[in-house]
Amino acid sequence: MDNRPIGIFDSGFGGLTAVRALRAICPEENIVFFADNGRAPYGGRPRGQLRLMAHQNLSVAASCGAKLIFAACGTLSSNAADILAACPVPAFGVLDAAVAEIAREQSAAPIGVIATEATIRSGAFDRALRAACPGREVYSAACPAFVPLIESGRVGKDDPALRGAVADYLQPLKDAGVSTLLLGCTHYGLIEDALRDVLGEDVRLVDASACAAAFIKHYLEENGLRGGEGSLRCLTSGDKERFERLAPLFLGQADAPQTEQVPVMPAEEDS
Ligand code: DGL
Repeated sequence: MDNRPIGIFDSGFGGLTAVRALRAICPEENIVFFADNGRAPYGGRPRGQLRLMAHQNLSVAASCGAKLIFAACGTLSSNAADILAACPVPAFGVLDAAVAEIAREQSAAPIGVIATEATIRSGAFDRALRAACPGREVYSAACPAFVPLIESGRVGKDDPALRGAVADYLQPLKDAGVSTLLLGCTHYGLIEDALRDVLGEDVRLVDASACAAAFIKHYLEENGLRGGEGSLRCLTSGDKERFERLAPLFLGQADAPQTEQVPVMPAEEDS
């Protein structure tokens, strides 16, 4: 039995979809979730800032005594994979989890990736997928309009702004004939219906948050780290009341989780 918490972080609410998926399959685990709402969104930030923020977020999670840290954020895990790998506490991100899932597919058809601008610019998903799935083409698209729409609650498939953005971003991937679409941002699971509407039933949607949960469970089991009392503690660097109001929607529960306000850390650009 290892009762230490799992530390999970994201720029904001998207990471809560990974927390939700993890609690569904590992309900006894203790989780500390750091929502860096005060600096969200991450997706348009330069790489140097994102790398500094990865260091800072790892420190926050480590200071909570985490047994395992998980970046439930495609943007940080693709821009700071080496920083996660060098952390003294075992640390992974959605990049590891999603690529491991797609590598299991028996297919030669092209793979599509949608994610934030900074994730796509890093090229990390493309490189990792090409290495893990030799012979398969990879097509990616940055979708900068999605996170602001999702964070303002515009997730319905009939929302006109969302529909327009989904159609614009996905058309080139449709034209390329992708058989799998990786949702490389943990916010995007919330707009699966809108994505499905445009792509049709034949394309497999791989949600980074669901992959994260399966990956964490497997890692804990392999390393004898399971255990806890099912607690959830949230830290937000944004507005606590807003977090408490919106978090239940992303967690799929009625009540606000126990939440603490933490200061916004400086994100000075180093490149
Ligand atoms: N949910 C995050 C990701 O997976 C961050 C999105 C953002 O803040 O732009 O990339």
